[in-house]
Amino acid sequence: MDIVRTAATDGNPEMADAAVEPKAPSEIRREDYQPFAWLVPETRLDFELGLDCTRVRAGLTVVRNDKAAPSRTIRLNGDGLVPTSVTVDGEPTQAFAMDGDDLLLTLSGEAHEIGIETEIDPSANTQLMGLYASNGMLCTQCEAEGFRRITFFPDRPDVLSTYTVRMSGPKAQFPVLLCNGNRTGAGEDGDSHWAEWHDPWPKPCYLFALVAGDLIARSDSFTTMSGREVELNVWVREGDLERTEHAMESLKRSMRWDEEVFGREYDLDLFNIVAVSDFNMGAMENKGLNIFNTKYVLADPETATDSDYDAIEGVIGHEYFHNWSGNRITCRDWFQLSLKEGFTVLRDQLFSADMGSEPVKRIEDVRVLRGAQFPEDSGPLAHPIRPDSYREISNFYTATVYNKGAEVIRMMRTMAGEEAFRKGTDLYFERHDGEAATCEDFVTSIEDGAGLDLTRFRRWYAQAGTPKVGVSLDHDGDVARLRLTQTVPPTPGQPEKEPMPIPLKLALFDRASGKHRGEELVVLDEDSAEFAFDGFAEKPVLSINRSFSAPVQIERAVPREELVFLAARDDDPFARYEAMQDLMTGYLVATVSGDLGANEREAARADIAQAMQAVIEDEALDDLMRGELMSMPSQAYLAEQMLLADPGRIHAEREALKADLGARLAPQLHTLYDRAQEVAFSLDAEAKGARKVKTLVLAYAAASDAEKAAELAAYQYDRADNMTDRQGALMVLAGLDSGARTGRLLDFYERYRDNALVVDKWFSLQAASLHPQVVDHVKALRDHPDFTLRNPNRVRALYMAFAANPAAFHAADGEGYRLIADLILELDPINAQTAARFVPPLGRWRRIEPGRSALMHRALERIAAAPKLSRDTFEQVTRSLG
Ligand code: BES
Ligand code: ZN
Repeated sequence: MDIVRTAATDGNPEMADAAVEPKAPSEIRREDYQPFAWLVPETRLDFELGLDCTRVRAGLTVVRNDKAAPSRTIRLNGDGLVPTSVTVDGEPTQAFAMDGDDLLLTLSGEAHEIGIETEIDPSANTQLMGLYASNGMLCTQCEAEGFRRITFFPDRPDVLSTYTVRMSGPKAQFPVLLCNGNRTGAGEDGDSHWAEWHDPWPKPCYLFALVAGDLIARSDSFTTMSGREVELNVWVREGDLERTEHAMESLKRSMRWDEEVFGREYDLDLFNIVAVSDFNMGAMENKGLNIFNTKYVLADPETATDSDYDAIEGVIGHEYFHNWSGNRITCRDWFQLSLKEGFTVLRDQLFSADMGSEPVKRIEDVRVLRGAQFPEDSGPLAHPIRPDSYREISNFYTATVYNKGAEVIRMMRTMAGEEAFRKGTDLYFERHDGEAATCEDFVTSIEDGAGLDLTRFRRWYAQAGTPKVGVSLDHDGDVARLRLTQTVPPTPGQPEKEPMPIPLKLALFDRASGKHRGEELVVLDEDSAEFAFDGFAEKPVLSINRSFSAPVQIERAVPREELVFLAARDDDPFARYEAMQDLMTGYLVATVSGDLGANEREAARADIAQAMQAVIEDEALDDLMRGELMSMPSQAYLAEQMLLADPGRIHAEREALKADLGARLAPQLHTLYDRAQEVAFSLDAEAKGARKVKTLVLAYAAASDAEKAAELAAYQYDRADNMTDRQGALMVLAGLDSGARTGRLLDFYERYRDNALVVDKWFSLQAASLHPQVVDHVKALRDHPDFTLRNPNRVRALYMAFAANPAAFHAADGEGYRLIADLILELDPINAQTAARFVPPLGRWRRIEPGRSALMHRALERIAAAPKLSRDTFEQVTRSLG
C-alpha cells in the first residue's frame, strides 16, 4: 500500500492545529505536564519475526480520557518508523499526518480501534533501543522511549494498557519465544511456530519486552507468602547454563526478602530473566520478563570476582523489586524517575545489606555516592533528584536520580524509624497501586503513614547541590555545645537555596573510657542551630553523621588525635571508616596545597600509619571491614575537596602516601597477607575478606617495593583458584614495569579469550592500571581484534576504565581527553546513549587547574563542533560547556 504523507485536515480545525503544531519542543519541562487526552485500555501486537525484517501489527483500543483536556487528535509517537497501513475501526485510512516522527490521527467518537502496521530491521539497530538483534537472537529495550522504535504508540509512562501479544517466526532460528505475563497459547505451522502471551497487569509501554532466540533455561520455582507457586527461569545461551546458579539463588532470596521486609508478593505465575550480551545498561525490569546484561547474570568462581557475585545479587534484587516500585506503581512522567529508581536503589541496598555485611555495604554505597554523585552535584550537570527540564531523558539516569534519590528516602526512614517507615510504604503501595504516581504522592504517603511532617523536607526533591554542614563543638563547665550550620551551594539555574532538614546521628565519647551514652539523632532544619548536652566534665569526642545519616559534606577541623581515637574505637563501623578517610584526606589535601612543612608531614604520616597498624592488628575486625578501613580515599573524592584540583599532584601525593604506608607497615602487611593466604576458597564472608585484604596488601606493596610486589603478585596469579585472586594479582602486575607483567597478561587472555565477560576484564585492568604508559596501551587495545564499538560492555571495559583512571585520563599533554573525545565522536552515530555517558568526565573542567582545564574545554568544543550530534550527546556537551 502506498501511503501519501498528507496533512489531511479534511476541513477539521483541530486536525489543522495538530498538523501545524510545532515539532516536539526541544526542552521538556516538568511544569508543562498534561494528562494524555486518550486512554488505551487494550493493546494487541502481532510480530512476524525476522532478524532483518520484523513486521509489527498493532491494535489499540482508544477511549477518551475524561480527566484530560479533550482533543480529537491522538498523537502516536514514532522514531524512524514508516506506517505501511493505518486503519480506524477496521477501515483503511489516509487521514493521518506525520509530525516529525509522530503520527497524528483525528478521531470523531468516544472510542475507536486503531490498527497500524510497521516494518523494522532489528539487525540494523545499533542503538540497542527498541527491537534489536544480539548474537542471533531478538530482544527489546523500551525504557525510556524505545517502544516508539517498534510501533506508533503514546510512548509515555502514564498511558497504561493491557497487552496481548502474538509472535511467530522460524522455529530453528527462534526456538524460544518470550513476552510479558503468561503464555496463553502456542503452535506450529511448518518451519514456523508461534506463541501468544497475555499480561493481565496494565502497564506503560516502556515495560513491554519480547525475546526470541535459541536459549536454554535454568528452571526453579518459588512459593509465595500466600502459597502460590511461581515458575522461575533464567534464560541464557547454551554454554552458559552452569553459570546461572547464583542468579537463580539471588532471585529466590529477593522474592522472599521483599515479602518479609516490605510485605510485597509476586503477582504472576511466571518470572523470566533473559541474559543478553549487547545491552546499554545493567538490566531492565520489564513485567515478568526481566532482560539482563550477561554481566549481571553469569558467574562461577573461575570467571567472576567476589564483587561480580555481589553485583549480580544486587541487580537481580533491584530489577525484581521494581515489580512493585516501578511496575505496579509506575511514574506519571519521566521527571518522577527517582520515584521508582531512588526507592528501588534503597530497597536493593537494604536487601544486599541483609544478605551480607551491613556496614561494609553502607561504606560501599557511600563510596559510590561520593565518587559519582558528589562530583555530578558540584559540576555543570548538577540537577535535583526530580529534575525540572530535560532534552533527552536517557541523560537523566544519573547518580543523582538513583543514588542521591535513595539517600533522600533513606533519610525519611531514619527520621521515622524502621517501623513507622514501613507503615508509610504500606500506605504508598495501597494508595497508588495500579497508578502512574509522582514523587509528591510518595512523600505524602510516607508523611501520612509514618506520621512525619515533611513540608520542608520536600526541598530535597527540588534543590540540587550537596549541602555543606559546618560543625563545631565547645565545652564549657559540664556542657558540650554543638553548633551546626548549613549552606547549599549554588548550582546551574539555582543561585539561591533554602535550608533543608538534615538528620544527623551523633555520639559523644568520653575520652577516658572510650564509651558514649547512646546515639542521638538531631535534625538541622535551619541555616544554623545549637544543641547542648550536659553532664560532661571533660570535653567529649564527637562522632557525627554516623552511618552517613545524611548525604552531606561535613566541614569541621578535627584534631588528628581525635580521628586516631575514633578510627580505633568508634562503635559505629561507618564512623570508624570515616575517621580513617578523614585522617588521610586531611593530610593529602594539605600536602597537595603545599601547606605542610617537613615536620608536620612526618607527624601526620606517622599518625596515619599508627591508625592503620591498629586496624591491621585489631582482632575484633573481620577482613571485609578491615579492607574498608585500609582503603585510601579515591582521587575523585580528594579532588572534590579542593576548589581547583591538580590531578597530577593529587595522584603523586596519594601514591607517595601509599608507598610510605607500605614501607612503614611492611611487616604487618605481610603477616596479614600470610594469614589470609591460609584461608581456602569459598564464597563465605571470611574467605571473601581474606581475598580482599590480600589484593590490598599487593597494592600497598606495589607502591613501596615494586620488585617484591611483582614477585608476590605473580605467585598469587599463578596459584589462584578463583577470579578474585587472579584478577587482583593481574591488576597490580599491570601497573608494574616488570617481566611478570607481559607474560601474565598474555596468559590471562589466552586462558579466557572465549569468554567475553572475562575479556572485558582484560581490557579494563589494562586501561585502569597505574602503568605510566596507559595511554599508549589503550590506543593499542583500540586496534585489538576483540575490540568493537558495537558492544557497550567492551566499549565501557576499555574507555570507562580509562576515563576513571586519573593519572592516565588527566595526562598533562591532553592525550587522555583527546582519546575520549575521539571515542565520543566515533561512537555517537552508532550508540548515542553510550556515547553521551562519556561526556561528564570532560565536564569537570571548571574544577581543574588551568592548563588541563583548557585542554578539556577544547575537547568539548571539538565535540560540539561536529556536524551531526545525537540529541543525547548534544545535550551533555552543551550543558558541560555551560
Ligand atoms: N530501569 C533501569 C534500566 C534502565 C536504565 C533502562 C536507563 C533505560 C535507561 C533499571 O532498573 C536499572 O536501574 N538498572 C541499573 C542497575 C541498577 C542495579 C541500579 C542499570 O542498568 O545500571
Ligand atoms: Zn532501576
